[in-house]
Amino acid sequence: MKGKFIVLEGPDRCGKSTQAKMLVNALLTHGKDVVLTREPGGTPTAEQIRQIVLQPGLDVRPMAELFLYEASRAQHTQEKILPALEEGKIVVCERYTMSTAAYQGYGRGIDLKMIDTLNQIATLGLTPDLTLVFLMSDKYFTQRGEYLFSDRLEQEDLRFRQQMRQGYLKLIKNTPNAHLIDADSNIDAIHAQVVELLHKYKIIE
Ligand SMILES: Nc1ncnc2c1ncn2[C@@H]1O[C@H](COP(=O)(O)OP(=O)(O)O)[C@@H](O)[C@H]1O
Ligand SMILES: [Mg+2]
Repeated sequence: MKGKFIVLEGPDRCGKSTQAKMLVNALLTHGKDVVLTREPGGTPTAEQIRQIVLQPGLDVRPMAELFLYEASRAQHTQEKILPALEEGKIVVCERYTMSTAAYQGYGRGIDLKMIDTLNQIATLGLTPDLTLVFLMSDKYFTQRGEYLFSDRLEQEDLRFRQQMRQGYLKLIKNTPNAHLIDADSNIDAIHAQVVELLHKYKIIE
C-alpha cells in the first residue's frame, strides 16, 4: 500500500475529533494528500448504518450492533479507505477495529476472538500503520461533554466506561503500532505528542 493509514481511538469525548483536525492540518502543512474520515460511517451507505447504530432509544441487540459496525467497516474500507491508500494518500480515521474490540468485546462481553475474525473480514486484512489511543480520567467525561444531545452509546454508565478503559489498555499491548496518548493533557501538548509520533513513523520528515 502506497499511503499511510492513521487511526484515532479512545472513548467518547477524549478529544479524537479535536486531534484529528489538528493532525490533518499538520499533514497538509507538510504537503501531504490527506483524507479525514470516521467510523461508523465515512461513506453514504456506512453513514446510514451509523444512523441506526447510534439512534437513541432504538432496540439494537449486541450481536446486531456488532454486525452493523462490521457492515459499516466493510463498506467504508472497500469504498473509501483502500482506494485512497492505493493513491498514496494519508487516511486519518476516527475509530476503527480497536473500537469494536473495546465496546463490543470488553464492553458488551462478546468473544474477542470472534470480533477479531469479523474485523479481519470487514477490513480485508487492512491494519493501521499507526493507532493513537486517547485515554482520559473519568472526571473529564462530564466536564468535556456539556452536550445538548447525547447519543445512545454516550449514555452508558461509569462502569461500562471503566471496563472499556481496561480493555483499551490491553488492546494497546496487543496491537502493533498502537500508542497510548494521555488525553488529560492540554490540547496543544497532545498534538505535539502526535506530531512526534508522525516523525517517529516517518509519516512526515
Ligand atoms: N485536551 C483537551 N482538554 C480539554 N478539553 C478538550 C481536550 N480535547 C478536547 N476537548 C474538548 O472536549 C470535548 C470533546 O472533544 P472531542 O474532540 O469532540 O472528543 P471525541 O471526538 O473523542 O468525542 C470538546 O468540547 C473539545 O473541545
Ligand atoms: Mg468525535
